[in-house]
Amino acid sequence: MGIPLLTPAWFVLRTLSADFAYRIVHSTPASLVRLVARLEGRPIYLSGERIPIKGLGVEVENLLGIAAGFDKDAKLTWLAWALGAGFHVVGSVLPHPHKGAKKKVVARLRNSTINRLGLPSEGAIRVASRLAKAKPPSIPIAVSVASLNVEGYSLATSILAPHADWVEVNISCPNTAEHRSFEDPDLALKACREARGAADGKPILLKIPPLKSRDDTWIYADVARECGASGVVASNTLRTKYKGLEAGLGGAPLYPIVKSMVSWLRERLPEGSIVVAVGGIDDEFKAVELLDLGANLLETISTLLLYGPAKFRKIAKATIEWASRNL
Ligand SMILES: Cc1cc2nc3c(=O)[nH]c(=O)nc-3n(C[C@H](O)[C@H](O)[C@H](O)COP(=O)(O)O)c2cc1C
Repeated sequence: MGIPLLTPAWFVLRTLSADFAYRIVHSTPASLVRLVARLEGRPIYLSGERIPIKGLGVEVENLLGIAAGFDKDAKLTWLAWALGAGFHVVGSVLPHPHKGAKKKVVARLRNSTINRLGLPSEGAIRVASRLAKAKPPSIPIAVSVASLNVEGYSLATSILAPHADWVEVNISCPNTAEHRSFEDPDLALKACREARGAADGKPILLKIPPLKSRDDTWIYADVARECGASGVVASNTLRTKYKGLEAGLGGAPLYPIVKSMVSWLRERLPEGSIVVAVGGIDDEFKAVELLDLGANLLETISTLLLYGPAKFRKIAKATIEWASRNL
């Protein structure tokens, strides 16, 4: 580890509104992000030892990644490296540039986050060219793709898959500006098939909404299997209203839902499938609980926004200890 810059930077960002902090981080040029990341270095608890994730054909240094939404346009891949992420999910990326919601909102509540961004994206071509130039070493990069129409899933995937270790197919955004949703299982299957057909052999994972029943979760497990996905990411944010507008709720309220979903997915998905748990993983005990229930990998974004790099690293470290005992 070099000069500690990220934790002090996070403390400064924490004093600003979440909206403003999110905008500052996203408008920082990728070259500056890379410089800061290199000065900080990769955390020393990462020994370089690698854990194979069979269903995805990759190896990771720990099991905690940064969830979609943190780095929409692949400007922060080096930041993920310096934070000590085991892997990093870029996106969601749309096939064409898209402005997203007119009034964008990111907010921190006591133990949760609100976002209403409406899938802003610089578009697949720009993101792909950024990824081609600036991928940090030693962390797998996944790309989350989304679209406002079914065909867009194949276009975005065909452009981005060559630059990704795997593709997350996001059919579950609760707040697109155009109110388009692919959560209907038939549409989800179509979108997933489009992505699968364009992924050029790269694994794909289906990212699903939070579901409160076993039956509903099994419907999406079957969609993932039918479209040839390697597994499922559970879950996206909860639909909520914030100041009268549709928005997504992340953080602690999601945790009990995701916990049940991991068990239900494990019961239903074929052996060897990947389950990625995401939602309210804000301490190492929750991380270990989800791994014990059968999650292969974990992701978070709210924990970074609410509690910063130190907490993120503590959880990442706990996953290494878990892996050394269990894998
Ligand atoms: C600011 C923000 C933006 C997000 N954008 C996306 C996105 O573009 N695509 C996606 O699949 N999920 C997106 N999500 C959802 C997260 O990836 C994650 O599924 C959800 O927030 C639950 O994890 P958490 O409790 O750690 O926040 C976003 C979440 C937040 C907080």
